Amino acid sequence: MTATDAKLTIGTHTRLFGVIGDPIVHSLSPLMHNTAFRQTGVDAVYLAFHVKDLPGAVAGFRALNMGGVSVTIPHKVSIMDLLDEVEPMAREIGAVNSIINQGGHLIGFNSDSPGATAALSEKTVIKGKRVAVIGAGGAARAMAHGIRSHGGRLTIVNRSEARGRQLAEAMDGEFCPLADFRGDGTDILVNTTSVGMSPDTDHMPVSRDSLRSGMTVMDMVYNPLETRLLRSAREIGCTVVDGVAMFVHQGAIQFERWTGQKAPVALMKKIVLNALTGRA
Ligand SMILES: NC(=O)c1ccc[n+]([C@@H]2O[C@H](COP(=O)([O-])OP(=O)(O)OC[C@H]3O[C@@H](n4cnc5c(N)ncnc54)[C@H](OP(=O)(O)O)[C@@H]3O)[C@@H](O)[C@H]2O)c1
Repeated sequence: MTATDAKLTIGTHTRLFGVIGDPIVHSLSPLMHNTAFRQTGVDAVYLAFHVKDLPGAVAGFRALNMGGVSVTIPHKVSIMDLLDEVEPMAREIGAVNSIINQGGHLIGFNSDSPGATAALSEKTVIKGKRVAVIGAGGAARAMAHGIRSHGGRLTIVNRSEARGRQLAEAMDGEFCPLADFRGDGTDILVNTTSVGMSPDTDHMPVSRDSLRSGMTVMDMVYNPLETRLLRSAREIGCTVVDGVAMFVHQGAIQFERWTGQKAPVALMKKIVLNALTGRA
């Protein structure tokens, strides 16, 4: 899009959307959502806001009548107390990554969980499968909730035992200490830790020996696009699901809630992949 196009499309009826986080400079959400708005002819813009003062930012959403907001680290939990309503699924997960403004009423929801299961479901059935979720933080909570609601059998695999057991219990799953994990009996393995993320790209959260041909292996990390875990999984003959698939699906769910229109998922994915691989 040229500067002239932008001048033509932004007017007094243009709605404002955005993402808040700290830091926020590397977010690909503005690129993805603005591309989707333009493609579907929705009169809206989406900006990134570096937010430290969360109550001040929420007052700003209201004062400016923003249409919706994406919420990222470190605000996904603390924002819950500042909204008018939090949907049950987000309440059960314990995190809000999306807000919709319905007539001045700010409603928090969670698109990470259905986004993660949508990405997995492109490659495998979840129902009845034995799923090992590596990690027990916010992303793991979203994944674990999605696995349980799709009828998967859950094991939380975590470095710190107390946190892992707590999540396993809350999501009606089993717990395995990370040091004891061998992969036996696992159909689907999902990394929800940041292990393997740039610049520490030589690391993987589990040993290569715990992967088996026939497993589906998903990594929530998408920088690099092919993490060491996914490269090993591909070499061994596993089905792989990268973190971009989840990122795009969670964004598509936000887009559809905010606009009532079907999201241009393929285009959103292409634009994010191009940005990550440095293509114009
Ligand atoms: N693709 C997407 O759309 C998407 C969406 C959301 C998040 N993510 C990614 O998911 C990742 C996790 O996010 P989060 O919010 O869940 O983070 P978090 O709340 O900080 O949780 C981190 C988890 O990773 C574990 N961990 C961290 N470093 C580890 C290490 N060196 N060895 C073993 N375990 C380690 C921690 O274990 P302990 O409990 O032992 O500390 C904890 O369970 C981030 O990389 C984030 O970018 C991706």
